[in-house]
Order: sequence, then structure tokens, then C-alpha cells
Amino acid sequence: MDEAEWKEEFKEKGCTLIPGKLLSTLNEDLGKIIGSKLYLRVSISTVKPSYGRMGIMSGLRKRIELVAKDLGCEFIVSESTSLYTQRIASKLGYTTENEIKYSGYFDPLSGTYIFKHIPAPHQSVKLLVKSI
Ligand SMILES: CC(C)(COP(=O)(O)OP(=O)(O)OC[C@H]1O[C@@H](n2cnc3c(N)ncnc32)[C@H](O)[C@@H]1OP(=O)(O)O)[C@@H](O)C(=O)NCCC(=O)NCCS
Repeated sequence: MDEAEWKEEFKEKGCTLIPGKLLSTLNEDLGKIIGSKLYLRVSISTVKPSYGRMGIMSGLRKRIELVAKDLGCEFIVSESTSLYTQRIASKLGYTTENEIKYSGYFDPLSGTYIFKHIPAPHQSVKLLVKSI
């Protein structure tokens, strides 16, 4: 699905699209860390609230590592928007390669502090990398 198509689909579902450059800013130096090596990126992970805190995401992250190794990847990269996934990644040995605090992030596209209302305890988005 190209960009125009997914934007149309989001609009049909009644979602408001807010332009943002947070993730591209977060990733801008990734090439310096990974070089030309193969890596697996984990994007958007969620667990149904009623199943939360049962170790599901921790277990998934461990399995993802096995899959990445099988595929010949040398790194796993994760953009983590939640304090909870940041804790999980830290326990699994990821290092924080970049961090952007929500309160101070000025979005150049919208011209606003677009994420300043994100509720505690989530304070930043982190670029987390693990060498496997
Ligand atoms: C973040 C999320 C994926 C965690 O999934 P989960 O299966 O509940 O995670 P786990 O059970 O493996 O939790 C592991 C650790 O995360 C932290 N954690 C998870 N949920 C937490 C909560 N509600 N409060 C505090 N810490 C929490 C804890 O450190 C926990 O370890 P502990 O239980 O030994 O203290 C889930 O809460 C979620 O879907 N949240 C909404 C969507 C989201 O923020 N996704 C992440 C985007 S990067």
C-alpha cells in the first residue's frame, strides 16, 4: 500500500493525520551504528490490556531475536515510544542509541510541540539497538 492509499484508509476510519518527523529524526544516525549490516526492525508492538504484565511482550522480543538470527541479521533495531518497552529492551541488553524527550520535541512540519501532552510515565522515544 503506498502512502496516499494508507492516508486515505486512515481518513475513512475517522483518524486525524498529524504530520510528524519524530521517527526520521530519531533514526537519522542509524547508518553510522549499523553500517551496511543486515538488521531486523521491530515496529509497533502492542498487547491487549487484559493480558498485560504477563510477560507476553518480553517473550515475543526473545523469540524475535531467534527469528532475526535465523534470517542472518546482526542487529535488532527498535523504536520504543513506551517506558514499558524501554524497560523490556533494557532487560534484554539493548542499548539506547538516541532519545528524544516528548516535552522538548518541536515538530518542524506542524510547527508545534506536537507530543507535549503524552501522559506520564512515558517521557521519550528511544532508538534501541541490540547486536545479536
Ligand atoms: C508496552 C506493552 C507492549 C508491554 O507488554 P506486556 O506483555 O504487558 O509486557 P511484559 O509483561 O513483558 O512486561 C515486561 C516489563 O514491562 C514493564 N511493564 C509492562 N507493563 C507495565 C505497566 N502497566 N506498568 C509498569 N510497568 C510495566 C515492567 O517493567 C515489566 O516487567 P515486570 O513485570 O517484571 O516489572 C503493553 O503494555 C502495551 O501494549 N502497551 C500499549 C501500546 C504500547 O505502548 N506499545 C509499545 C510501543 S513501543
